[in-house]
Amino acid sequence: MNDEIKGLMYQALETEQGGQEVYQAAIKCAKKDELREEWQKYLTETQNHEQIVLTAFEKLELDPAVETPGRKIVRHHATGLIEAMKMALKEDPAAAEIVAAECVVLAETKDHQNWKLIGELAEHLKGNEAKALKEAHGEVEDQEDEHLYHTMGWARELWIESLGMSAVIPPPEEEKDVKSAIGASRAEQSRQRML
Ligand SMILES: [Fe+2]
Ligand SMILES: [Fe+2]
Repeated sequence: MNDEIKGLMYQALETEQGGQEVYQAAIKCAKKDELREEWQKYLTETQNHEQIVLTAFEKLELDPAVETPGRKIVRHHATGLIEAMKMALKEDPAAAEIVAAECVVLAETKDHQNWKLIGELAEHLKGNEAKALKEAHGEVEDQEDEHLYHTMGWARELWIESLGMSAVIPPPEEEKDVKSAIGASRAEQSRQRML
């Protein structure tokens, strides 16, 4: 494994660890029960993703305690998102739920890309390394699609509602159980019909 691949793995671990704190903060900002429950489920899944990454680390003989420059940047982003949600709760509580949805989308955009790249690597590498990445990827892929696309749907509909227009809540992405970019696009296009 070269340093770039190891670097990605450390970023993936940090994203899952910081992601748990992002969800804990987001849950405090959630006002709608359905959204809070959704994020609670994603928090549990993110805890499991950390364990899955740690299992891959063992197979790859990587030390999870090693600090890397990329990892530091990932942590910096998470700290910023958590800070933003605290700020919203204090200064603009009415908007805190939307701020939290946007923060989750930002965190999950990175999480989603990490796993996309891990999936690509699993195809590209050979032997035990490929096997370790493939097993990890297979367990999380669908959940990462859901974390990102469903929360994007929530962020959009919460904004639409706050602007005084008719919103689809829960968002079409959730109703249609979207698990791909194309599915998310179809769900968004169907929102007029679902109103
Ligand atoms: Fe994750
Ligand atoms: Fe995620």
